[in-house]
Amino acid sequence: MTAHYQVHGDIAVITLDNPPVNGLGLSTRLAIADSMTKALADSAVQAIVLTGAGKAFSGGADIKEFGKDVAFREPNLLSIIALLENSTKPVVAALHTVAMGGGLELSLGCNYRIAAPGTSIALPEVKIGLIPGAGGTQRLPRALGVEPALNMIVSGGTVKAEMLAMLPGQKLFDKMAASADSLAEEALAFARSVAAVRPLPRVRDLPCKHPQGDAYFQFARNMVKGMAKHFPAPAKCVDAVEIATKKKFEEGMAAERELFLNLMWTSECRALRHLFLAERAASKIPDVPSDTPQREIKSVAVIGAGTMGGGIAMNFLNAGVPVKLLEAKQEALDRGVATIRKNYESQIKKGKLKADKYEQRMALLSTTLRYDELKEADLVIEAVFEDMGVKETVFKELDCVMKPGAILASNTSTLDLNRIAAFTNRPQDVVGLHFFSPANVMKLLEIVRGEKTGKDVMATVMSVAKKIRKTAVVSGVCDGFIGNRMIEQYARQAGFLLDEGCTPQQVDKAVEKFGFAMGPFRMSDLAGNDISWAIRKRRYQEKPNLKYSKTADLLCEKGRFGQKTGAGWYDYVAGKRDAIPNAEVETLIAEHRKALGITPRKISDEEIVQRLVFSLVNEAAHILEEGIANKASDIDIVYIFGYGFPVHRGGPLRYADELGLFNVVQTMQRFAQNPLDDAAFWQPAPLLQRLVADGKTFGQ
Ligand code: NAI
Repeated sequence: MTAHYQVHGDIAVITLDNPPVNGLGLSTRLAIADSMTKALADSAVQAIVLTGAGKAFSGGADIKEFGKDVAFREPNLLSIIALLENSTKPVVAALHTVAMGGGLELSLGCNYRIAAPGTSIALPEVKIGLIPGAGGTQRLPRALGVEPALNMIVSGGTVKAEMLAMLPGQKLFDKMAASADSLAEEALAFARSVAAVRPLPRVRDLPCKHPQGDAYFQFARNMVKGMAKHFPAPAKCVDAVEIATKKKFEEGMAAERELFLNLMWTSECRALRHLFLAERAASKIPDVPSDTPQREIKSVAVIGAGTMGGGIAMNFLNAGVPVKLLEAKQEALDRGVATIRKNYESQIKKGKLKADKYEQRMALLSTTLRYDELKEADLVIEAVFEDMGVKETVFKELDCVMKPGAILASNTSTLDLNRIAAFTNRPQDVVGLHFFSPANVMKLLEIVRGEKTGKDVMATVMSVAKKIRKTAVVSGVCDGFIGNRMIEQYARQAGFLLDEGCTPQQVDKAVEKFGFAMGPFRMSDLAGNDISWAIRKRRYQEKPNLKYSKTADLLCEKGRFGQKTGAGWYDYVAGKRDAIPNAEVETLIAEHRKALGITPRKISDEEIVQRLVFSLVNEAAHILEEGIANKASDIDIVYIFGYGFPVHRGGPLRYADELGLFNVVQTMQRFAQNPLDDAAFWQPAPLLQRLVADGKTFGQ
């Protein structure tokens, strides 16, 4: 049973019990309905308390029913709320820990609400591209006041119950319990105290007005337009709440339903729901069950205090885990620590960090020049120069000193993790933790699973990722892993586009209009053009026949490495990130084009975007087929969290599915006919061809 029914004297208690968060799936809804029937039929029962077992009142919809018809099967949530609202005996909702989405809407159908301090209250539907769909947009403004309710609905943000209880005139909470422990007792006493009250108060009967309605909603609409440019849902939240202030309750409910159903079918909503599920799915590894034993990680060591090492260390300090930082030389150590301090200090200046927190974090950091001082660390992460020889020295040293059972991780972005593991006598303990720069900011973490990496090590590092608030995706071993292997093809295409007639600005603009945070040339300037140059030089050796545009090499020969040198594809003014077009670069591109004998042509934004995005899609299909990625949605997560792919498109593979893989392949075949492009590259990957032949999508 996913809800229990008990009678305490003259009070019936219905307890939702559907772990982990008492999701309101069909079985729970049926159990509530059944309990209500019992309570209303029992003449000894004078009032009803509705609460939740375990770690929530209710987190709302049941994720298992997400996107399925069963979510709407009767009794659906609207019917259950109507049942509570029309009860002839008072119903008191006793909220604790979490009351979100449908859970909060359920409580708004009750006659009274009592909350424990610390309860997280939210209507987060907007985060998956929807508006609340079970009366939230009509009842919350009545209970809480129009402005605070709209703020919550449009942001999807979480607010603690005690904060809301302080709002003047609020009717969301009739009482705050003294503590979570006393909630059950207090709810029973409260239910007894209101048992005889008639008529029963209902949220739907409360007035809902805003004194300057028109001006306020106009203002709200303008704010939302600026902030949510690719997403329709926030503006619909404003519409729905405005209707609550202007129409009768029933009309408002009908309007909410219509807005909700229309949003369900937008591509933005589908993309957000896809990502919501994809993020959860990414944390599951097919052959590593959730009950796999884990190792305890209480302290961490980081080797190398450069660009990456410092940022990696900060992640753990932020999570309250002690870090020991090792460098080869004292100056490098001092420089690394100074950078960490500088980063924290700039967070303080921006008001993002309190001074006492800063001190607490720095107190967790210690430094050393000696490996034997690391030996007690539970996890050591290497972030030294990207050179196999240096990695060999470091891992042999670690193998000698680290205690048995310590996890040895490398942040390498291109080197073979299996070779690194083979430098030790404990390859089962070696794993890749590929952070993205800046490591203290970027959400993505690629967890690289070596041939011999232990399952317990995988389970442990997945938990570690959660602890340091990263979104982790598992990748097999290959050059570039998932993200960088795909971006290499994208960058190749960007080069061909220049040769054929584009300017860097034109390409960047088209891609940014599509929704990417940054176009390929601005991104390369940020990452450092020298990095991809080094990779290309290696490729020229490994694959001499592979076609490349040489423009980027010519740029690097001029020392234009990007933002760090103040000049790359664009010029940069010190301290600013604005990309300023440079005539010299345009001449360089034009002259090279001339030398190749190419007559430039006008290339449409559509072609630019398709060539770049489909190059990601085709490489992703190879990656999936080789088993480097476990599932298509993992690749979408990598691109959303690590490469600024437009969220409203749900990731490259989701986007390809939306376009239809048949269309994608047809377009690739057209690109293959372009003599200035690489026909071999546009040969659709076998997996892609099979999906088209079977009429399937990546999602399937
Ligand atoms: P970096 O050059 O900024 O820092 C490397 C640090 O390691 C230097 O401070 C150096 O003094 C220290 N070091 C070198 N040999 C050492 C040794 N034997 N013992 C102790 N310390 C030693 O390099 P960065 O950018 O931080 O890269 C480090 C690693 O992270 C590389 O494997 C790189 O491929 C990887 N990586 C870099 C990314 C980036 O965007 N920079 C992104 C993801 C991974």
